[in-house]
Parts: sequence; structure tokens; C-alpha cells
Amino acid sequence: MTGAYPKVTVVGAGNVGATTALLLLMKELANVVLIDVAEGLARGKALDLMHMRSNERFGPVVCGTGSYEDTADSDVVVVTAGVPRKPGMTREDLVGINSGIVRSVLEGALDASPDALYLFVTNPLDVMTNLAVSLAGLPPGRLIGMGGVLDTARFTYAISEVTGARPRDIEALVIGAHGEAMVPLVSLATVAGRPLLDVVSPEELAWIREATVQGGAAVVKLLETGSAFYAPASSIVQMIEALLHDTATLHSSCARLNGEYGIRDVSLCVPAVLGSGGVREIIELPLSQDEREQLQRSAESTKAQLERVR
Ligand code: APR
Repeated sequence: MTGAYPKVTVVGAGNVGATTALLLLMKELANVVLIDVAEGLARGKALDLMHMRSNERFGPVVCGTGSYEDTADSDVVVVTAGVPRKPGMTREDLVGINSGIVRSVLEGALDASPDALYLFVTNPLDVMTNLAVSLAGLPPGRLIGMGGVLDTARFTYAISEVTGARPRDIEALVIGAHGEAMVPLVSLATVAGRPLLDVVSPEELAWIREATVQGGAAVVKLLETGSAFYAPASSIVQMIEALLHDTATLHSSCARLNGEYGIRDVSLCVPAVLGSGGVREIIELPLSQDEREQLQRSAESTKAQLERVR
């Protein structure tokens, strides 16, 4: 492995995992280890990416494996191993099978990389992140879930579609559980500096909400097999960049709450400052009463699902 780069292990060499590896390499963020129970899949995709390196000339390297020994001393471990949704399924329908997978992944990964930061993507990711916090015995700030960044990307897309504004001119955030209970912060969103609520009609706002909450399901329905992976992988890589480069930037991340927003002892997507140690700080934004209540409901639904897998 090339020593100049940090080491990121991606568990699960499927659509999300392999696309994450591709982006990490193209952005020259890290050397990558792709690991999968289907070892040939991991090794084959890694070999394909190494062939691609000859054209693209990126610096970092990638290897594929079925053994956690090769993942030793990773700086970040991304967990995408699991089963994706099929049309008509909610993320919550995956909880039984995917919690077993995440348990077995943790056993192997923690032994090999006890000092890593862990990023959970496997759905339902809020439940998986909470499960990992309860199993891993690590400081909760080092176990983070990716969901809010993706939901925020879909919210931004929907606002852009309605207003015609470019994503870079839109400030928006989605917090709460990564599922039907997510909370798009409409009261705080702005378009070219103006409040979203001043620039869209109630009907347009309803469409934006629906397109945000159902964005993932819409992709699942169109694909027929599997779920979204380009925007999820890009969301993962945004978070990894913040962790590896210690950017101290704000990302809606599934992070452990300790009284913030009046909620404790559960990890939920909230505005979090990410840096080299993981979650540095959770920012308490001034939510509307309605948004606060929705966030509370998100916390309760996550806790209830967690009871089923503990
Ligand atoms: N260890 C390692 N890899 C595993 C394990 C395990 N115990 N169990 C399954 N996998 C691998 C599969 O072999 C497969 O290659 O996880 C990979 C999952 O890839 P895909 O089926 O393509 O699923 P993907 O679209 O990448 O989604 C993965 O992310 O967005 C979430 O809901 C999605 O939970 C799902 C996860």
C-alpha cells in the first residue's frame, strides 16, 4: 500500500461500497481496502479499479479481500455490508437481516482497527449506528451514521427543481431518522439568501417535502433491483473528507445525543461538526415547535426499532 495516504476500509463491495471506493480514489483521499463475504467480488472490483488507475493516474491504491487482517489499522471503516431495499420495502423492513450482518462485521473490524472512526451506511442506518454504539464499547463520537447528508442532498435537489436555483445557492438541512420520519428543516432553508418559505407556494413546499422523503424509494422503484448508490457514496465521501482532513464542517450526521434538542441516549441525524476525532460538537439550531416534535418522534421510533434487535 502507498504510505502517503490514510487507510479507509469499505466493508461491502456492492453498489454503495464500490462507488465509495471509486470516489475516494478519484479524489485522492485514501488508500482503500474493499472487503466482502463475496471475496471474489471485492478482489475483482479492486483489480478493475487498479486497471483504471493506469488511465486516471490517481495516487492511492485499492485492494480487495475477504480477510479482516488486511484491514488492520484503518483510519476510517465504512460499513455498507447488507441487503438493500426492494420495491415496496421500507428501510425498516431490513432491520432483522442487516443487524445480524452488522454484528458480524463489527467483530472482525473492531479487532483489526480498534482506533478507527466508524461510519455506518447499512439500513436502517439509525438503528445500525445505535446498535454499534451499544456493542462496540468505543466513545460514541467515533461511531457515526450516514443518512442526513444524503437526505439533505435530496432536499436540495427538490428545492432546486422547484425554484431553478443552483444547489450551491441553496442552504438546507434534513435531520432526524433516515426514513419516513426524517425532518426537512423548511423553516431554516434559504434560496440565494432568501427564506425558502418566502419563495415557494404551499403546494410547491408539499412537493418538495414528498420528493425529499420519498427520494430513495423513487430510485428503488425505478431500478427495480437494488437501491440508490451514487448519491449515497458521494455523501459518505463528503463525511470521510471532513474526518480525514479535520475540516470541522457541519454535516447532518447520525450522532449520539446527550441532552441536545431535549433528547438523550440515542443516535440520530443532527447537525454535527465533524473532524479528526469524529463528532466534535452537535449544533442546536433554532427549530420550529413542529420540527422539534418531529425530531422527538424520530428519536422514539429509532429507540423502538432498536429494542427489536438488541
Ligand atoms: N460482510 C461483508 N460483506 C457483506 C456481508 C458481510 N457479513 N453481508 C453482505 N455483504 C455484502 C454483499 O456480499 C454485497 O456485496 O454487502 C454487499 C452489499 O451490496 P449491494 O447488495 O450492492 O447493496 P448496496 O446497494 O451497496 O447497499 C448496501 O447500504 O444504502 C444501504 O440499504 C442499503 O443496507 C444497504 C447497504
